[in-house]
Amino acid sequence: MPDDSKPHGHAFATRLSHVGRAGTNVHAFVNPPVHRGSTVLYPDIASRKEAGNKRFEQALVYGTMGTPTHWPLENAIAEIEGGTHCQIVSTGLAAVTLPLLAYLKAGDHCLMPDSVYGPTRGFCDTMLAKMNIATTYYDPCIDAAGLGALCRPETTVLYLESPGSHTFEVQDVPALAAEAHRRGAKVLLDNTWGIHHFQPFRHGVDVSIQALTKYAVGHSDVLLGGVTVNSEEEWQRVRSAAITLGQYASPDDCWLALRGLRTMAVRLERQERSSLEVAAWLATRPEIKSVLHPALPGAPGHDIWKRDFTGACSLFGIVFRPDISVESTHAMAEALQLFGKGASWGGYESLALPTTGFVTRTAGTGEFGGAMMRLHIGLEDPGDLIADLDQGMVRLNARRE
Ligand SMILES: Cc1ncc(COP(=O)(O)O)c(C=O)c1O
Repeated sequence: MPDDSKPHGHAFATRLSHVGRAGTNVHAFVNPPVHRGSTVLYPDIASRKEAGNKRFEQALVYGTMGTPTHWPLENAIAEIEGGTHCQIVSTGLAAVTLPLLAYLKAGDHCLMPDSVYGPTRGFCDTMLAKMNIATTYYDPCIDAAGLGALCRPETTVLYLESPGSHTFEVQDVPALAAEAHRRGAKVLLDNTWGIHHFQPFRHGVDVSIQALTKYAVGHSDVLLGGVTVNSEEEWQRVRSAAITLGQYASPDDCWLALRGLRTMAVRLERQERSSLEVAAWLATRPEIKSVLHPALPGAPGHDIWKRDFTGACSLFGIVFRPDISVESTHAMAEALQLFGKGASWGGYESLALPTTGFVTRTAGTGEFGGAMMRLHIGLEDPGDLIADLDQGMVRLNARRE
């Protein structure tokens, strides 16, 4: 495993405490204030004209170009991802669609993992299809040779999501990225699960996507996305598309995300530990066929995770034994008292979401031989969560008898 613990001189937790602030030897409040605004005033027409040349910089031009509240968050996300620039957008899904629009044009071909987040698939199958941009869904566990065979002369984007956020296939990002580059395609990665545990630009990624809605915000009350790049060339592409599309995020939301980031290191550490405790307990249960947690030894994708990641988040899947019906797993989910039944993840609270029948696959993958459930482990005591799952299993088993 690479030593990613102090890539910028300080440990991750230290960097999260200090990034985007004015410093410690200042006469000021600790946190940057919220700047709200659309109109920017200029002392004269010449300076207004000059501001037009600063659209790719962090400069006061017009509200949509960013404010002093957006910049600390952009800098923090770029730092976390190990990139040079970040564009903050309104949602995680907007962080997906923005670079797809930036890098694809009519007649192009895009490669998408079959495990991709559902609304990303929806965007490809509707908006991109309408623009005459073709998508091929591929097995997320494909190797470089298999991927190469799917590439066409007009393939301009290889999209990755590793691990898949419902079925947790860990992709061989370095090998797939190298193959895509060899064929002249750009590599886009949804790195929401990896956060800082996967450093995208060290593994050949060109554009890294984060749904900041999840662990960055951390409290399930704000939607936000980040698109990070590591070169001036990619920044021009992404930033131009963001400006052209009128992408923007509320400064209040940016401020809340920056506030969330200050505690993200401890939340992640605790949630990772708790998720592994719960996952290990589930792996011993007779009702469970397999646990899809890449950080759990023996789980699918664990070897690649160990090679490329420095840690894990707290989202994982379970597959029930084949004799357990989907309805029984629904009864179990409904019996849980500490797990909410809902989408999204990364907040302080635990969630349980049966996924069988809710996930679309078209490339013949995603068959795990049993009903499935996705669990997000929050900040509750793991012992309490295990006790809740235990009593949920009683309901599940009662339903089977
Ligand atoms: C992997 C992944 N990417 C992107 C998104 C989209 O994020 P948002 O809900 O902020 O649009 C989600 C949301 O669940 C997700 O799970």
